[in-house]
Amino acid sequence: DLKQIAVDGEPGLATYDPGFVNTASCRSAITYIDGEAGILEYRGYPIEQLAESSTFLEVAYLLLNGELPTSDELAQWTHDITFHTFLHENIKTFIEGFRYDAHPMGMTMAAVAALSTFYPDAQDIHDPENRKLQITRLIAKMPTIGAFAFRHGQGKPYVYPDNELSYVENFLAMLFKMSERKYNADPRLSRALETLFILHADHEQNCSANAVRSVGSSGVDPYSAAAAGVGALYGPLHGGANEAVLKMLRRIGDASNIPDFIDGVKGGKERLMGFGHRVYKNYDPRAKIIKKAADDVFDVTGINPLLKIAVELEKIALEDDYFVSRKLYPNVDFYSGLIYEALQFPPEMFTVLFAIGRMPGWLAQWEELTGDKEQKIARPKQIYTGARTRDFVPLAER
Ligand code: ACO
Repeated sequence: DLKQIAVDGEPGLATYDPGFVNTASCRSAITYIDGEAGILEYRGYPIEQLAESSTFLEVAYLLLNGELPTSDELAQWTHDITFHTFLHENIKTFIEGFRYDAHPMGMTMAAVAALSTFYPDAQDIHDPENRKLQITRLIAKMPTIGAFAFRHGQGKPYVYPDNELSYVENFLAMLFKMSERKYNADPRLSRALETLFILHADHEQNCSANAVRSVGSSGVDPYSAAAAGVGALYGPLHGGANEAVLKMLRRIGDASNIPDFIDGVKGGKERLMGFGHRVYKNYDPRAKIIKKAADDVFDVTGINPLLKIAVELEKIALEDDYFVSRKLYPNVDFYSGLIYEALQFPPEMFTVLFAIGRMPGWLAQWEELTGDKEQKIARPKQIYTGARTRDFVPLAER
């Protein structure tokens, strides 16, 4: 619904495009999406190939640097990330200060923002080496923050990073380790989580990336900009959707209740969570890969009974004219919650997992933004609809 309208009191025309449905806010060389064809590529590499063959740190390197790393570059990058996994003890104390039932996403957002006070050197965003250091710190510390937030909610002691483990295995150990013994994750489960991180690593101008760019365009440090991204991701229409999917599947309870549920959706009572996407008007390519990852995980953990409802729901929706005519297909969140649950994550952790996976994408976009001479501070126009000039009325006369 792009409308060109005159802005009252200002010369010329302005474009009214709430939600930026048809407005490009930047140029970017990072992620390519063709929503009609269901294509997603990071730096030109198809998501299917990356999900099959790469690691999350390789993908992070690719997003940030534009090329896949050589083996020397990957070894150095892995070393740098590993070196920065620990949090300052006062960040731990900060997390301890939250209520016992604080949402881990709120704690994560706060901890990411708090890092800006621990690294005042991050204010210098004009030095590329300095930016690289802050980027490394953020990617390295995200799993530690997420794991501490998780253990806080469980009332369990925090587990410090084990830098002999890979990025994902270390994260799982910090989450689930319960004794002094070395934590050994099932490689099929850690690979499934790694695949999910890869699938979530970037998605061009989504709501949270736009938040990072918008806040970052003021020249603020990357921790503050990334905290804005975490905040945007927290919302149920963005990163919170997979948690909402599980709640929805639980409420449906049995495949026999699906027709009534669908009638409610068609009647406008609620949305079918995990369906529809602003860009994909075809099957979300990530959803296909996730379906396969779900099979691998359920081979290890046994079938989640909600999977049956999800599969049936998808089948019914894809045959229903309401969904077909609006081009509503399953998105990345439709099956991801089921996998997270099988991996023993409580629903409130799902969005934190998304944030850990998305951090390289936010930072690649922030890095791109800082080097883009054309980029101005984000400052959209508005169409003013309020009262015009009037005289102040004293309190006694109102
Ligand atoms: N269930 C039922 N109807 C839907 C759904 C849905 N999930 N999504 C869109 N529609 C309908 C709308 O009611 C609207 O119908 P209308 O034309 O009759 O009014 C039409 O489809 C277009 O919907 P919009 O809201 O205009 O689409 P938009 O591009 O703004 O929204 C969004 C995209 C927010 C993802 C939406 O599809 C949605 O709310 N989905 C459910 C939440 C979800 O799964 N979010 C995860 C997105 S992926 C991610 O963030 C990682």
